[in-house]
Amino acid sequence: MILTITNQKGGVGKTTTAINLAAALASKGIRTLLVDLDPQANSTMSFIDAHSAPKTVFDALTEPDVGIAGILQQAEKVPNLLLAPSSIALAKLEAKLLGDIDSHFRLKDALAKVLPDFDFIIIDTPPTLGIITVNALVAATHVMIPIQSSYFALEGTDDLLETIDKVKARANPQLQILGAVITLHDKRTLLARDIVDQIRKVFGDKLFETVITKSVRLEESPAYKETIFSFAPRSTGAYEYYKLSEEVLSRV
Ligand SMILES: Nc1ncnc2c1ncn2[C@@H]1O[C@H](COP(=O)(O)OP(=O)(O)OP(=O)(O)O)[C@@H](O)[C@H]1O
Ligand SMILES: [Mg+2]
Repeated sequence: MILTITNQKGGVGKTTTAINLAAALASKGIRTLLVDLDPQANSTMSFIDAHSAPKTVFDALTEPDVGIAGILQQAEKVPNLLLAPSSIALAKLEAKLLGDIDSHFRLKDALAKVLPDFDFIIIDTPPTLGIITVNALVAATHVMIPIQSSYFALEGTDDLLETIDKVKARANPQLQILGAVITLHDKRTLLARDIVDQIRKVFGDKLFETVITKSVRLEESPAYKETIFSFAPRSTGAYEYYKLSEEVLSRV
């Protein structure tokens, strides 16, 4: 099971979802790998210091003898969770792979060697539909789309779904949309509730029942290198991400 979390819109909760879903799965004893495929390295920094990783996904994807196995880090404080860290170097990937015939398959090939070591792999992506995100879609078995329940929430969704269809057409016919999840939801506003209805019209039963509401605890926890489960185990955010993990497992 390889789940890519993606939406080319920035700041919609991809990273927050990736780190907390990964932690929720790991807490159930599931051997989980979180691959940070964003040059911003926000998932990485939620677990380890940005400069403490000697090698990162850029090395794994560009040097065959490094591979994913050569960059793995144990996520501090989270048993069963390993991290494939990112760094700003990943921003050079597009230029580096330009013209390479296998450029879209780099991640898939790199992950193949570590597949037996994990039950669940989660990939966090940057807010673009470029070569990095395409690598994540080619490598994945499933996609999850976080959508912020705000004005313009669905803008760009067509492009994303089109990209997913293109990847399915050739490079990865098995790819499935696992679901869309509403994030950063503010129950108090009428607008947010209207938007949830609009999102439901687009995604139908692919929309996860669990809604992630806006909460200060979720926003704070990465700064302390904690997941929501260690930072505020009794918060609504912890409850919601735990529920999401149960829903995810029920769909696979
Ligand atoms: N449910 C939430 N409640 C409050 N703050 C949140 C919530 N989810 C995410 N945030 C905050 O919103 C900001 C954007 O979230 P996040 O980094 O997860 O989005 P992203 O889609 O990964 O962004 P990018 O596109 O830049 O990678 C961060 O500061 C994060 O802490
Ligand atoms: Mg992010």
